Amino acid sequence: MYPYEIFGLTAIIDSFGERSMKLEAFAETGSEEAVLLESIDAGRLPRHIAVIMDGNGRWAGLRKLPRAAGHRTGIDSVRDIVESCRKLGIEALTLYAFSTENWKRPKLEVRTLMRLLKEYIRREMRNVHENNIRFQSIGRIHELDESVREELRRFTELTGQNTGMTLNIALNYSGRAELTDAVNRILSEYRSGDQSDVTEEKISNSLYTAGLPDPDLLIRTSGEIRISNFLLWQIAYSEIYVTPTLWPDFRRKHLLEAIATYQLRDRRYGGI
Ligand code: FPP
Repeated sequence: MYPYEIFGLTAIIDSFGERSMKLEAFAETGSEEAVLLESIDAGRLPRHIAVIMDGNGRWAGLRKLPRAAGHRTGIDSVRDIVESCRKLGIEALTLYAFSTENWKRPKLEVRTLMRLLKEYIRREMRNVHENNIRFQSIGRIHELDESVREELRRFTELTGQNTGMTLNIALNYSGRAELTDAVNRILSEYRSGDQSDVTEEKISNSLYTAGLPDPDLLIRTSGEIRISNFLLWQIAYSEIYVTPTLWPDFRRKHLLEAIATYQLRDRRYGGI
């Protein structure tokens, strides 16, 4: 039996069924994962975690595989991180899957990413729903192919009333586009008669992430130290964690490492 009883982690291990054997092995007293679990304070978990999933191509390149193999294995990481966040009790998880700039990639790669996304939705929809996770896509969704939008619609509708965790997948997303859309929305409300002043609250409520807390922790995999046009407004006070681990290798252990590091930070929000 797994020895640690913090914030439902016993439940994680129990609910993984077949994988529980492996996790129990990882979590033997004194193991790296067990030590990490012990070092995490259940009362100070980030409410919202955002992730720039980077390094799929390099992961594949290192193995002399096509880039698509990196994206495909990246989906296993998505599954693992979604499950882990849910079990930890994280309120919101936002994953950057496709930026407005990613259209510059070769057509075949774009098609592969869209196909993998649809595959992920078809495979995971039931599991995500049963785990009481609410799914949302954020970005200029209307510009995506109808077949992708159809899957997103089904997933969003099925899980719309769930209350356990919000999973946002950012697709055809950029922070500047989001802010532009927010300004245009406010402008159109203004023209329709709501001529109250623009406030920070009004801007927040006009973003795709309206209603969610801002990310406490922003994780970027594969070592690049930049924001890449992600959640520009929302990350004003996020703690940034960059790891050299490539996204397809990033699993629960790495998430726990990120959370443990986050808890060592002194968040002052401009105070002293
Ligand atoms: C960055 O790696 C990754 C992406 C642009 C796509 C992320 C997509 C997935 C993990 C799969 C589909 C997503 C979901 C949510 C099911 P890169 O290709 O830029 O890697 P590189 O910098 O090493 O070339």
